[in-house]
Amino acid sequence: MKKFLALALSLIMAASLAACGSTPSTAAASGSGSASSAAASGSGDQLITVGFAQVGHESDWRTASTKSVQEAFSKENGFDLQFVDCDNDSAAQLEAVRNFIEQDVDYIVIDPIVSTGWDTVLTEADDAGIPVIVIDRTIDDSDKYISWVGSEFTNEGLAAGAWLRDYAKLKGISELNVLVIEGTTGSSAQIGRTNGFKKLADENGWKIIDSQSGDFTQEGGQKVMESYCKSYAGKFNVVVCQNDNEAFGAEDAMSAAGISYGVGGDVILISFDACTAGLTDVLAGKINADFQCNPLQGPFCADIVSKLAAGQTVDKKTYMEEPWYVSEEGLTEIAYTNNAGKDVTEPLVHVTQDVVDAAY
Ligand code: AHR
Repeated sequence: MKKFLALALSLIMAASLAACGSTPSTAAASGSGSASSAAASGSGDQLITVGFAQVGHESDWRTASTKSVQEAFSKENGFDLQFVDCDNDSAAQLEAVRNFIEQDVDYIVIDPIVSTGWDTVLTEADDAGIPVIVIDRTIDDSDKYISWVGSEFTNEGLAAGAWLRDYAKLKGISELNVLVIEGTTGSSAQIGRTNGFKKLADENGWKIIDSQSGDFTQEGGQKVMESYCKSYAGKFNVVVCQNDNEAFGAEDAMSAAGISYGVGGDVILISFDACTAGLTDVLAGKINADFQCNPLQGPFCADIVSKLAAGQTVDKKTYMEEPWYVSEEGLTEIAYTNNAGKDVTEPLVHVTQDVVDAAY
């Protein structure tokens, strides 16, 4: 099928790039995209073959992402999905993409473990006439993909910093000494959250005592926090974990070290993702604030493939909608300058059981 579409897709890609440039063009509603039947829209009775090179299975977020993609690219929706779990191994991910090219699939979907090192393999896909769609994390050293749908990670970090600034003011805390547990080094999620939060830290004169990778896993978060507790006991009052699973590990390490955290504790705990277990901890007051990363991207991605199969144009970039969640009612909104340079004021969602029940 791609043989017939190669020329049309090149034209669509050019038109799409011209129309969208690098400007965010679409705000995707949380989890509400519709994957229209690709078979109906593009290929008669034939299933559209899609290879998906997933990052791995490191977090609750990742489990939700895999489920979302697998459900959206179902046989009923007209797709034959080849799924590869790359186990957080960049070499394995490149190999998975090359295998998809070898198999001559119709489309390739990549959630890139790291943001660089992609141009050669994307050129190979391009030469083979196979369109590539990127989800979640970004590819930053090649533009040889048709479309991307995912999160504005820098805004997540900026929002976390803006909330901390206002929360510290509300509580009368004048000195902030911060420990950061970063995600997988070189992933756009780690880079964006680190840079966004650091901007607010620099602006407000907070001290970032240390910043190490926990690889987005609970085990990694616990290990880093155990070492932080030994090295910096009594010297920190904020811990920023770049995902919920790291936060669960950090909680265990702080509890074991006799350090109190969360609402009323000695340490303010900030997290990202806002999965069900994360929001359960926000509701319990163990995590003070949790900045959502929305994994329900499958329907949006399937919609992009369906449109391409039907010869339609697609946006180059689609940003997921992502709310910010807090444990206490004191603050209702935050204001900051976002990554696009725009001054924004955004609501803070106070977590109740209903909010937890509606989470992914
Ligand atoms: O790329 C999204 C990030 O990757 C999520 O924050 C994290 O949980 C996942 O592992």
